[in-house]
Amino acid sequence: MKVSIIGAGKLGTALARLAVAAGHETLIHARPKPMLDIILGSLVPEAKLVSFEEAALADVMILAVPRTALDSFDFSLVRGIIIDATNPWEATGTVVESSALAGLSVPVVRTLNHIAYEELTSDSRVLNPHALPRAVAVVEAGEGTAAAADFVESLGFDAVVVQDDAAHLFEPDGRYFGAPLTAEELASL
Ligand SMILES: NC(=O)c1ccc[n+]([C@@H]2O[C@H](COP(=O)([O-])OP(=O)(O)OC[C@H]3O[C@@H](n4cnc5c(N)ncnc54)[C@H](OP(=O)(O)O)[C@@H]3O)[C@@H](O)[C@H]2O)c1
Repeated sequence: MKVSIIGAGKLGTALARLAVAAGHETLIHARPKPMLDIILGSLVPEAKLVSFEEAALADVMILAVPRTALDSFDFSLVRGIIIDATNPWEATGTVVESSALAGLSVPVVRTLNHIAYEELTSDSRVLNPHALPRAVAVVEAGEGTAAAADFVESLGFDAVVVQDDAAHLFEPDGRYFGAPLTAEELASL
């Protein structure tokens, strides 16, 4: 699969490492800054730094930027599914309204937002085959949900689809944000 990641911070680079390890062709789009290519070259040399337009052609695009940045992108260019891993978080001033993801013709699925980036790499069975099974919630979003769940599984986690009205439980200050749950535990909540 061709995977693009928007944002090259803590979450974006952790996900890029997982995507590469899972065998996906991995693209990163990030706003320019000094040393970016050197930083990415040392953290995840297999990933390619691309324009947003090129990232938009991937099968899966993952959003790993602050919510406040969403309005800077034209998501109508996206051709595959969008995985929205951003969080509204009072502590980081990112509780904002944005219509950037509204009314798109491609699916937008909320997942990969409730695990800290360090745990994404330590608990992925792709990077650590002996890691204990860990579940990731995928919020039901109709078409695209199954593909997002398959993608999460490819990164070495057990994907569990949850209903939209449970999404807040997996966001900052939600009961299960950061909770290391198994698929059985998550499915029985
Ligand atoms: N960190 C985690 O463990 C974790 C886990 C799950 C979900 N998340 C969510 O993932 C998102 C990113 O978190 P993070 O911890 O990875 O943050 P981060 O380390 O600060 O990285 C944010 C990335 O977004 C870029 N960015 C910031 N403002 C931008 C703008 N206005 N336009 C374009 N790009 C912009 C940054 O570029 P610069 O480097 O140039 O600033 C950087 O590449 C947040 O929504 C967060 O809630 C984080």
